[in-house]
Amino acid sequence: MSVVHLPLPTTLARPAGAAAPVGADSAPGDDAAPGSRGQLVDRFGRVHRDLRISLTDRCSLRCTYCMPEQGVEWLAKSSILTTDEIVRVAGVLATLGIVEVRLTGGEPLLRRDIVDVVRRVAEIEGVAGPLEVSMTTNGLKLPELADPLREAGLARVNVSIDTLRRDRFAELTRRDRLDDVLSGIRAARRAGFSPLKLNAVPMRGVNDDEIVDLVQFAVDNGAQMRFIEQMPLDAGHTWSRSEMVDAGEILDKLTQRFTLTPVGERGSSPSQDYLVDGGPTTVGLIASVSAPFCGACDRVRLTADGQVRNCLFAREESDLLPLLRGTDGHTPADDDAIAELLRRSIAGKRAGHGIDDPGFLQPQRPMSAIGG
Ligand code: 5AD
Ligand code: SF4
Repeated sequence: MSVVHLPLPTTLARPAGAAAPVGADSAPGDDAAPGSRGQLVDRFGRVHRDLRISLTDRCSLRCTYCMPEQGVEWLAKSSILTTDEIVRVAGVLATLGIVEVRLTGGEPLLRRDIVDVVRRVAEIEGVAGPLEVSMTTNGLKLPELADPLREAGLARVNVSIDTLRRDRFAELTRRDRLDDVLSGIRAARRAGFSPLKLNAVPMRGVNDDEIVDLVQFAVDNGAQMRFIEQMPLDAGHTWSRSEMVDAGEILDKLTQRFTLTPVGERGSSPSQDYLVDGGPTTVGLIASVSAPFCGACDRVRLTADGQVRNCLFAREESDLLPLLRGTDGHTPADDDAIAELLRRSIAGKRAGHGIDDPGFLQPQRPMSAIGG
């Protein structure tokens, strides 16, 4: 028998007599917002509010922990969701209680109509007002796009930057583009994105000697540095748990240089934030592997080719394309049928990612094709 060391979802407990969440089979209550189809609740009681949409699997970099150098099997162009299809699915999800949307990739800014996608998704009315739209990007195209994106309603942006050394950047991403990322960060700041978050994945012997420098860089540039534990999502399947630089080690390194004060409760946010030297700048640690936040997970993912994934590490996907396009013997489906598929996907969500489970299997798709 295998032993699973993951914490079970913690949102199960409900006081006796409290109302059950509006679940997959229940009709929306009288007090539900107009057009509401109830909430997306899984069997552990986790209510889903956060949608991640991967807009493309293409990328202008080739980060070693994400993509192979060559021979990437790109998704077929014909399978990539059109903007109308994305807007439709996001609209149905908004009626199911999704309030936040993060646009990811690959590199989302490679999508030619990206400003239009942002504008249209940000116009969708959720149960509590328009959807809040954010983005994770490698930053290369921010110099020309930061202003139009902000004007189109993009609320927040996270830029990935794993090293501040040009030679290392070129090795790690297999492209000599550090200066462009730095220009992108400056452009995002000038455009008024705040808080501006910077993401780094620390790797042993690669960039783990820059953890302090990255935080200092963020402090100097009015940004929040966030370190993400490396997860087994690399195309080469070379990830090793024992080699991983974990949050504890990052914290040790940082406290040798800065005074860190924990801020607030983590809640459904995966990041534990700390004030740096009394603030106002903060640094965030995302311990996805060593302290999984699966118990509070409120995310659902849509891939660029129309697959619904209930977890980054899901082994199964639910295909929306036949419903959207009326292919494979389907007639194009109405929104209720799309909502039903989404509910079924969430109903089948597992308790956690199980990275520590001896039977753990890495997902078939690399991160670039799932979306961060
Ligand atoms: N583990 C952790 N984070 C990753 N990212 C990409 N691959 C991995 C991985 N294997 C991060 C990127 C980016 C975001 C989309 O996800 O650095 O910041
Ligand atoms: Fe591109 Fe992001 Fe993957 Fe790097 S991690 S190759 S920037 S998708």
